[in-house]
Amino acid sequence: MDYQWYPGHMTKARRMMEDNIKLIDLIIEIIDARIPYSSRNPDIDTLAKNKSRIILLNKSDLADEACNQQWIDYYKNMGFYCLKINAKNGLGVKQVPQLINEACKDKIERNKAKGILNRPVRAMIVGIPNVGKSTFINAFAGKACTKTGNKPGVTKGKQWIHINKNLELLDTPGILWPKFDDKAVGLRLAMIGSMNDQILNLEDLAFEILKYIKDNYPGAIQMRYEIDENQEIIQIMDEIGAKRGCLKKNALIDYEKLSGIITDDFRSGRMGRITLEMP
Ligand code: G4P
Repeated sequence: MDYQWYPGHMTKARRMMEDNIKLIDLIIEIIDARIPYSSRNPDIDTLAKNKSRIILLNKSDLADEACNQQWIDYYKNMGFYCLKINAKNGLGVKQVPQLINEACKDKIERNKAKGILNRPVRAMIVGIPNVGKSTFINAFAGKACTKTGNKPGVTKGKQWIHINKNLELLDTPGILWPKFDDKAVGLRLAMIGSMNDQILNLEDLAFEILKYIKDNYPGAIQMRYEIDENQEIIQIMDEIGAKRGCLKKNALIDYEKLSGIITDDFRSGRMGRITLEMP
């Protein structure tokens, strides 16, 4: 299966980012901890040249804890400031302001030297769809923050969220679309649900999910479905289907229904904390 998805929003989103990048000191890039490589858009490195950079490994609750640490080390080694978070329950979000200070230390020092004292850091949140940008902004900014409205010199219509005296967020999250140079990237995006399921073959997808988990997380399938996982994937699917009552009138397996269950179990973490790629 070749997973590709090129929605027409891409050009618009890119232009929005290009238009605003000059106003920004810091780019906070949110990625999915289950696919910290495939959930990045390589264009961001070109767009964000000379800006301070933070990578937040979101949905870290769904990813393998040991892998989270390896990815954090990997991105730190590449020169990014990096932290794992769970935007849904807020874990790690409180550490973000400190990370912002570290990432923008030089900029703040330079401003001080020039006598610019009360200039807040301006940040833009970017990420591909569904990585948790809105959830993060809600957890981070909370209800207490105020929108400061249009400012002189700022592109008309753009609003800034005043987090505190030191930080403002551009309230339009930069939505980027992943590049699919590599088929495996498309497959992993489909696995975590970052692609429109309606364009996917869910039966193939469920097959690939089970295959990856069987090869990389032995015992996880057995634990979830209480079946012997030491058999071919198609037999595993049939057993799960029978156990879960995914049967058609003629007693044949209803693969469509079954695939939905498997995909959903994986995406919501019911098969355990699973990371799909390593640095
Ligand atoms: P986006 O703006 O980047 O497109 O993503 P959004 O915040 O809409 O989040 C997409 C989905 O991911 C939401 O689930 C959200 O709850 C979930 N999510 C975000 N951060 C985390 C996290 O750290 N851990 C986990 N487990 N989930 C997270 P949804 O099913 O679309 O909505 P809801 O039913 O949760 O409200």
